[in-house]
Amino acid sequence: MVTRVRRARVEDAGIVAAVAAETFEMACPPGTTPASIAAFIAEHLAESRFAAHLADAERVVLLADVNGEIAGYTMIVGGEPADPMVSRAVVNRPTVELSKCYVRANFHGHGVAAALMAASLSAAAELGASSVWLGVNQQNARAIRFYEKSGFRRRGVKHFFVGEELQDDFVLERELAPNE
Ligand SMILES: CC(C)(COP(=O)(O)OP(=O)(O)OC[C@H]1O[C@@H](n2cnc3c(N)ncnc32)[C@H](O)[C@@H]1OP(=O)(O)O)[C@@H](O)C(=O)NCCC(=O)NCCS
Repeated sequence: MVTRVRRARVEDAGIVAAVAAETFEMACPPGTTPASIAAFIAEHLAESRFAAHLADAERVVLLADVNGEIAGYTMIVGGEPADPMVSRAVVNRPTVELSKCYVRANFHGHGVAAALMAASLSAAAELGASSVWLGVNQQNARAIRFYEKSGFRRRGVKHFFVGEELQDDFVLERELAPNE
């Protein structure tokens, strides 16, 4: 599967929001209620939110394009982690967050995620980061395996709200080599 990764532009906000709404549920543990998932999508994954993210110099959104179809996306967020649990867990500075990493289900297992990850790590290095951190639900075994394959290591835990449900994440971190 030939994957082309490119930086999203402001005019991509609609397609990124659509892919985000389609894929978010896969990252949630079983038992997350449809109401909580819908609330999260409405509040955090709306087109207007992505339009703002795409105009924000602290963020980079990358799209994976497979034969003209958007197969997935990532978002990097610069700056010191705001959550004290993350701040304590992450070892290296400066660090950036891999805040979103989502691939549509029919593209799983085809190297699309690896291409997105490679481009995301390069983008993080270009921002001057010496590490990338992320939060992943503790029950999301597939994503955890993917991140471990990608060089991330477990550093701690944090909490994450989906709607009104408080969920448990692992905090993972990957160091970036100076020439990465
Ligand atoms: C996370 C994600 C981007 C990874 O992409 P992918 O194409 O699935 O990744 P890969 O297939 O390269 O790697 C997944 C690994 O998990 C393994 N795996 C699959 N299901 C698993 C499970 N239930 N338990 C443990 N490992 C599992 C796969 O075998 C593979 O490992 P391997 O290469 O050693 O065989 C993608 O699965 C995704 O978008 N998931 C839904 C959204 C999500 O959870 N995003 C992360 C939010 S933090």
